[in-house]
Amino acid sequence: GSPATVSPTGQPTGADPSDLGQAGPYLTTAQGARLYETDKSLKAGARGPVLLQDHHLREKITHFDHERIPERVVHARGAAAHGVFQGYGTAAQVSKAAFLAKDVETPVFVRFSTVLGSRGSSDTVRDTRGFATKFYTAQGTFDLVGNNIPVFFIQDSIKFPDIIHAGKPHPDREIPQAQSAHDTFWDFVSLHTEATHHTMWNMSDRGIPRSYRMMEGFGVHTFRLVNAEGQTTLVKFHWKPKLGVHSLVWEEAQIINGMDPDFHRRDLADAIEAGAFPQWELGIQTFPDNPEQMYEGIDLLDPTNIVPEEIAPVQPIGLLTLNANPTNYFAETEQVAFHPGHLVPGIDITDDPLLAGRLFSYLDTQITRLAGPNFAQIPINRTHAPVNDMLRDGFHQDAVHAGVAPYRPNSLDGGCPFLAGADTGAYIEVPVEVPAARKVREAPATFSDHFSQPRLFWKSLTDVEREHLIGAYTFELGKCYEQAIKERQLKVLANIDPQLCEQVATGLGLPVPEPTVELTPVTPSPALSQLGQVWPPD
Ligand code: HEM
Repeated sequence: GSPATVSPTGQPTGADPSDLGQAGPYLTTAQGARLYETDKSLKAGARGPVLLQDHHLREKITHFDHERIPERVVHARGAAAHGVFQGYGTAAQVSKAAFLAKDVETPVFVRFSTVLGSRGSSDTVRDTRGFATKFYTAQGTFDLVGNNIPVFFIQDSIKFPDIIHAGKPHPDREIPQAQSAHDTFWDFVSLHTEATHHTMWNMSDRGIPRSYRMMEGFGVHTFRLVNAEGQTTLVKFHWKPKLGVHSLVWEEAQIINGMDPDFHRRDLADAIEAGAFPQWELGIQTFPDNPEQMYEGIDLLDPTNIVPEEIAPVQPIGLLTLNANPTNYFAETEQVAFHPGHLVPGIDITDDPLLAGRLFSYLDTQITRLAGPNFAQIPINRTHAPVNDMLRDGFHQDAVHAGVAPYRPNSLDGGCPFLAGADTGAYIEVPVEVPAARKVREAPATFSDHFSQPRLFWKSLTDVEREHLIGAYTFELGKCYEQAIKERQLKVLANIDPQLCEQVATGLGLPVPEPTVELTPVTPSPALSQLGQVWPPD
């Protein structure tokens, strides 16, 4: 095809990806020279040696040799879809983000994933699922890089390499590929009791979703929204599926793993192709911004905590509809690059120490995964807002920048381009007070209650759900070779609930340990106490 967008030098800019190959009337080399044969290499006689001078052979094989890029270090296996997000306007009081305004429609790209398995692993394994959404808003790209579980294993990003090393296959035998059932994982979580809450969600039915279309999504961290008047509100983001939340049972998941390892990606693509477009409502739980960043005794900076919806209801602010499958898995699903730091005016971060590390990690890993610093130019990663940055050169630079050196102010280059001021739509960080502090490697005291919330989760389950959870702990711990690890994990369960601990211990044929903490919450509050049957625990 003829290039839709042409740079001043006459080169296609790549704005229309169909221009970059495979649209012409006949086969060519990458340089556009017309081919007459692509099935036979050039030889000295039909039975003679193949000639090194065969440029077409060398180009074809060389390109093939470099087709693979590294898979993501986590969330390697995924499936994605395009769609649209429509704001309800209900968030206007708390956020000035333009895409949340009433009836504004914003294109989105959503990638669902498992966390631990490699790109070729199975879909229906017991694992956390990623739920990452790229909103191509008029004010720049906003990424909500969430999971289907509302809490995380660790409270500080410095432990992320540790938990992932513990969960990934053993270095010697590369076992297991895609399941949490092994010694290093259980060794880690039994030694780091902050991981208990997330692990319980994994062992519950939430760890084996029926479909990507039937999962909730969570931003996990507390974010800070800012409205047009500069007032701030702390929030947690939730995606609520219109189809409801559904899970597989373990036996189903096992059979599907064998019969159709692509079950979830097939389900998503088939549903969209059939016109059964999956939908989610985006909602927020709101909390007054306060210097302590606590709500009813719950530390909002601790990503191992939820806030029960009974005391902070989820308020719907918009509707997501996925309505188109990707055209090319590699170009879109594989090359998309999400980043929790892709924010737009009206949405800011908090000091959650886990989020801080993520703000560094995603760009850093993508420089390796996508070979250099220019992957924002890949079509799926391009913002829909106008770009005028001062970034130059580097691997895979596709833009042909004109003008003199990119620095500002610059009197040789037509003067300083317009810099948006305080009230003109620029992204301005909320000027949060930072109290005088000592430099320390410490966690706050409020991060040390690792059992109240897992207990809350256990109390919220029905009998059937509890049975499934007990079955999952028993099965997964049963795969550990080391008895000491099983015994240590049983001690953790003893600190959650005696019945849970006893039943898992019985299933494993091991003695039932005593709890080591009091089975009451460390930080009860009147509102939490009103929750009655689930909080505080018996
Ligand atoms: C992917 C790091 C915690 C959700 C990734 C990737 C890295 C990473 C390096 C691969 C990105 C890429 O290659 O493009 C971290 C670190 C964490 C952390 C350092 C904590 C310190 C979390 C949490 C969530 C999350 C708490 C959920 C709230 C995701 C998702 C993806 C991802 C959904 C897949 C994105 C995609 O589909 O491309 N993470 N992560 N991560 N992470 Fe995290």
